[in-house]
Amino acid sequence: MSGNPAAAGTASVTMREAIPICFVDDVPFGEGRSIALVNRRIGVFHTPQGFFAIDNDCPHQGGPLSDGIVADACVTCPLHGRRIDLTTGQVQGHDEQVKRYSLEIRDGKVWLLPGTGFQEP
Ligand code: FES
Repeated sequence: MSGNPAAAGTASVTMREAIPICFVDDVPFGEGRSIALVNRRIGVFHTPQGFFAIDNDCPHQGGPLSDGIVADACVTCPLHGRRIDLTTGQVQGHDEQVKRYSLEIRDGKVWLLPGTGFQEP
């Protein structure tokens, strides 16, 4: 993804303030995109219910969730079809959870909010 305002390897990223992780236009409606952020990949999704962000690795076997099908504020893992509720991070029908991050949309950018559990390396 081009133009990531807080790209991987940006050692000065802190989570005391919201940080921009991509531009709104980087994530087409009804799709997800993987954002590299310091030491992990976050899946950002643009749904009819708004933008959501979760860890990009499926808890089952690490499938890339941002490549999954997005519908009804859920994403279906492209590898084996587990469905994750983007509003909660809950894997439907399984006792598994995907870490979820709080976002804000401002100035044409998607901002990751502080206090969402993002850990610096
Ligand atoms: S890796 Fe996602 S369902 Fe198996």
